[in-house]
Amino acid sequence: MHFHILTLFPELFASVLSATMLQKGQERGALQFSLHNIRDFALDKHRVTDDTPYGGGEGMVMKPEPIVAALESLAAASGRPHRILLSPRGSVLTQQRAGELAALPSLALLCGRYEGVDERVSQFVDEELSIGDFVVSGGEIAALVVIDAVSRLVPGVLGSEQSIADESFSDALLEYPQYTRPAEFRGQKVPDVLLSGDHGAIARWRRQQSLRRTFEQRPDLLDRARLSDDDRTYLATLRSRRDG
Ligand SMILES: C[S@@+](CC[C@H](N)C(=O)[O-])C[C@H]1O[C@@H](n2cnc3c(N)ncnc32)[C@H](O)[C@@H]1O
Repeated sequence: MHFHILTLFPELFASVLSATMLQKGQERGALQFSLHNIRDFALDKHRVTDDTPYGGGEGMVMKPEPIVAALESLAAASGRPHRILLSPRGSVLTQQRAGELAALPSLALLCGRYEGVDERVSQFVDEELSIGDFVVSGGEIAALVVIDAVSRLVPGVLGSEQSIADESFSDALLEYPQYTRPAEFRGQKVPDVLLSGDHGAIARWRRQQSLRRTFEQRPDLLDRARLSDDDRTYLATLRSRRDG
């Protein structure tokens, strides 16, 4: 996966891209990052990239010309990446969408700043993506969220594919509780089944814990979950306990 990042603040990325999973992903040849400073594509001698909004109002708006020139330079240089504008009005990133994006060869992440980008830029991207129903001060933080969520689903980036399969949202359920040593901490014991060595019983317990957590904390997810007959029976038990 080749990520192209279009930003006015490339310096914000260095420490995150050069540590832990993202660094390993690059060393393994599974990830590549190219930072493109939008200011380098400004047309005037002062390299202006923003201006006041037509119609008045607070703040500055990012001008369309440097952004579109930056996007077009990518298309010319490396085959057209899938172009994403980070925006609070975009569709909200989900684990499923992260998986779909991870299957693409390259992504261009366009980071807005100030009051956002000129509306006409929308015509030059493939989608607008939000990291949630709140506003952060710049697209760089949002781009890093997308990069992290997508990268860990790119084959070869993480060691264990099974750990991804078990994670929250992987099949629309929250993950089961995890424990490590010590077996007892401040009066709280690790559930006996996890110490039993009975792999069948552990798998059943984990599945039921996943269902229970999702039922209690994110019941909206259950509509999309892939459920077996045993799962449905267990959920019916939880419902009758709650209601009765
Ligand atoms: C301060 S925000 C602009 C907010 C804009 N005035 C509005 O009300 O929608 C500046 C930039 O941060 C990024 N951003 C802010 N919140 C975001 C979110 N929830 N998801 C993705 N990007 C976001 C976008 O790139 C946006 O252009």
